[in-house]
Amino acid sequence: MGKRERWRSRIGVILAAAGNAVGLGNILRFPSKAALYGGGAFMVPYFIAFLLMGLPLMIVEWVIGRYAGRHGHGSMTGILGLFFNHSNWSRILGSVGVAIPVLICMYYIYIESWTLGFAFLSLFNQIPAPVVSSDPHEAVRPYVSFFKDYTYPSILAYFFLLITIAINWVVLQRGVVRGIELIAKVGMPSILLFGIFLAIVALSTRDWAGVEGLKFIYNLNFSRITDPTVWIEASGQIFFTLSLGMGAIAVYASYVRPREDVVKAGFWTAGINEFIELVIGASIAIPAAFAMFSAVAIPELAKEGTFRLGFMTMPAVLMNLPFGGLVSFIWFFLLFLAALTSSLALIQPLIALFEDEMKWEHSKAVAVAMILVTIGAHFSAFVPHFIDELDFWAGCVMLLFFGLIEIIVFIWIFGIDNFYNELKQNCTIKLPKAFVYVIAFVSPLFLLFIIYFWVIKDFGKIIMVTESTKIIARVFIVLFLIFLSIIAVKSRKIILRDLRYTRIIKNKEP
Ligand code: ALA
Repeated sequence: MGKRERWRSRIGVILAAAGNAVGLGNILRFPSKAALYGGGAFMVPYFIAFLLMGLPLMIVEWVIGRYAGRHGHGSMTGILGLFFNHSNWSRILGSVGVAIPVLICMYYIYIESWTLGFAFLSLFNQIPAPVVSSDPHEAVRPYVSFFKDYTYPSILAYFFLLITIAINWVVLQRGVVRGIELIAKVGMPSILLFGIFLAIVALSTRDWAGVEGLKFIYNLNFSRITDPTVWIEASGQIFFTLSLGMGAIAVYASYVRPREDVVKAGFWTAGINEFIELVIGASIAIPAAFAMFSAVAIPELAKEGTFRLGFMTMPAVLMNLPFGGLVSFIWFFLLFLAALTSSLALIQPLIALFEDEMKWEHSKAVAVAMILVTIGAHFSAFVPHFIDELDFWAGCVMLLFFGLIEIIVFIWIFGIDNFYNELKQNCTIKLPKAFVYVIAFVSPLFLLFIIYFWVIKDFGKIIMVTESTKIIARVFIVLFLIFLSIIAVKSRKIILRDLRYTRIIKNKEP
């Protein structure tokens, strides 16, 4: 195993981290969740969760990632171990933080492949022609059946899944600098450009009727403020969109130079992500759907599944425009770029686990990681409900729990003073110590509160399932956790041997 890689440039770090955060979560998941949970009513818990948990935890992951990188660790298995002398239990607990991004990636990459497939189908005019009808269900029907036939899965969907897996594999094989950083430098500016173009297209549809959709999202109201489900979903969205509680930010931060200003990087990551979510994400799928269909139809369409709204309503809108096929291509290609820069980040923690903890060489680490993701992606493609079940557990519940663990370990166990000293190193933005107190006390209390009320209200209902497909998904999650726990325990010996070796060398030094 050679030396750990380092990002080549500061702009590269920021763009890679922004690419990590900006993804399908911003452009597909956010509008779907907002539509399902009442638009403006969803946004109140959303903003509170961003301020009390999202932003603080973003800084925590950057600070701890840089710290852990200096000690040669990038995956949560190694990072948590670092704080407990690499005890077995801490490394096993850390494995949950590696399992989360990979489980997410196992369905994420399949959805990513739909975006690539739909981009090509749009370019070659294979998307159904629009139906002129005042009934929204009538107008969207051809697109719903087209989408369902495609994701059944069709041969074409399977083909594009394999292509998408191959693209991820090639980029990751090229490594952090020549692969991920390069893609982010090209991808992020394109996402911004395409995003702004599509936002204008969607808002201006039918004489700016799309603006009503924006009003639906930003008409902030307190009508669902006592509903724990809305709180958990809004908080889950904050974690998902910012890539928090899954070790994906920390692993990128572990590749910075020791003198990198991580606080600034954290603010940039959160800032770019929120701009793309709240300005661009909010201005495309929902406004477009509002312009074309009645407001009543939106939550109903969103019920089709978290990520699916944009695959059915958007082509129905875009195909009506002049050069509809081309605009639809731009939409799906935008999604593909956003998804690619995120899927790379979701797999990297597993690669870091194999490289840093097992001391495998890069190609082997990438190959094993990609094989595991491919197995999971097949379950996503062929087992109904697998995607939504994984999205609920790994993409929402586990993130919140792991976020809590991160705060307990990185702030309480590490110590408020130690954390603050680490945060201050090479930091140009002078954050007051009160900020760390907020992370130490307010963020975990907030998290515990929503988890508690949600458990009381929904847990019993959710845990009792009879559908075999959901049970398969849950068993899969448990087996994957067991597999990563075994790796955590096995690799401990390697880490301890290395540490002993380093100590011997140090003692021998004059
Ligand atoms: N943060 C990534 C997204 O929003 C996972 O898609």
